[in-house]
Amino acid sequence: MRIAMIGSGYVGLVSGACFADFGHDVVCIDKAAEKIEALKNNRIPIFEPGLDALVKSNVDAGRLSFTTDLAEPVAAADVVFIAVGTPSRRGDGHADLSYVYGAAREIARAIKGFTVVVTKSTVPVGTGDEVERIIREENPEADVAVVSNPEFLREGAAIGDFKRPDRIVVGIEDERAREPMTEVYRPLYLNQAPLLFTSRRTSELIKYAANAFLAMKITFINEIADLCEHVGADVQQVARGIGLDNRIGSKFLHAGPGYGGSCFPKDTLALVKTAQDYASPIRLIETTVSINDQRKRAMARKVIQAVGGDARGKTIAVLGLTFKPNTDDMRDAPSLSIIQALQDAGAVIRAYDPEGMEPAKAMLSGVSYGTSAYDVAEGADAVVIVTEWDVFRALDFPRLKSIVKAPVFVDLRNVYPREEVERHGFAFTGVGRAT
Ligand code: UGA
Repeated sequence: MRIAMIGSGYVGLVSGACFADFGHDVVCIDKAAEKIEALKNNRIPIFEPGLDALVKSNVDAGRLSFTTDLAEPVAAADVVFIAVGTPSRRGDGHADLSYVYGAAREIARAIKGFTVVVTKSTVPVGTGDEVERIIREENPEADVAVVSNPEFLREGAAIGDFKRPDRIVVGIEDERAREPMTEVYRPLYLNQAPLLFTSRRTSELIKYAANAFLAMKITFINEIADLCEHVGADVQQVARGIGLDNRIGSKFLHAGPGYGGSCFPKDTLALVKTAQDYASPIRLIETTVSINDQRKRAMARKVIQAVGGDARGKTIAVLGLTFKPNTDDMRDAPSLSIIQALQDAGAVIRAYDPEGMEPAKAMLSGVSYGTSAYDVAEGADAVVIVTEWDVFRALDFPRLKSIVKAPVFVDLRNVYPREEVERHGFAFTGVGRAT
């Protein structure tokens, strides 16, 4: 199959490289000339484990190429994917669809012959209808089937998620799209991944419902964690105890500082807005959004309490800045609000993150950065794990103890057992672990 991938950001690049790896002929397109230039020179603009090797081997095999001009690859394509950004619109929280609609207009002018146009970007219900309307308005001759095919990739595990998905969801209105979409995913289909065909609007809603459910699940365990602290229970054991029930499932039950990233905060908000627009509010998710917002500042209060209730002039060593490990993504990272709240309380912040410090510099002010956990812990009044990178999983506590000013350890990701940290002479604060 010949595939044109419009948008070479996170989703476009990972999907494009994986489709090429399946043997398809893929052209990844992006308006940002410097991004395309970098990709042509085998420099990957994002951090995603395994992506550089995957891109290189498929470029070398002649199956994957990059360009800024969509006309030629779109004209030649059997399937065109739209994988451009859909950020939260400033002011009202709705998804900003201007890039999606812009891409639809350009596609309309370029397509030749029957073409399947697929929205892979996360888009509100009804966007497929609008994409189709725009294409027909722009080019009444266009022979298209507009499809919804949301992605369920996790940053840091995207290639594995793409190649071994739990399911593939394809929303179609025109039966002619069924065969090409089956063909595009054939290698996965052969691996028994369920290919679920639905209507286009259903498919669009599945994406939001999945992310909202996961965000709600995390928020649920976070609230149980707070209760654990009051009643003297352990949230990790509660999570295991409930997660072993197959109806609940053990995943996404890690209590922590609240969810962040480029998807959950944006998608939950967009779902809330859509539901309000249709006068069918989803109160569970409205509440989830507000609990998660408040949680980040609550985590700062936890740190302040750990240093004795007053953070003024105290130096806090922050380990981990990105919204989760194995990414350099700082979008809506809990660290941003936690650090801001600690600074508001008068604390001095020293931070270290294996990949996130460069993007963090543009988003935080007054933070000094170090070269390792030990570098930032030097002379600190507290060491705080905010993101559970592997390098923080086997800290040398005797070494830490010898360099900190005060032995205070706050583990916002429940990486360590309380006893282990206390054995090394640190005061310990976790999340939901009163015992
Ligand atoms: C999420 C979904 O997991 C993907 O399925 C989806 O495709 C993607 O959004 C998207 O819509 O594009 P991602 O944002 O990369 O993927 O990251 P997750 O691994 O889901 O983590 C999201 C946040 O939840 C992180 O801040 C993480 O630390 C937090 N989290 C996750 C918890 O606090 N506890 C958990 O048990 C799990």
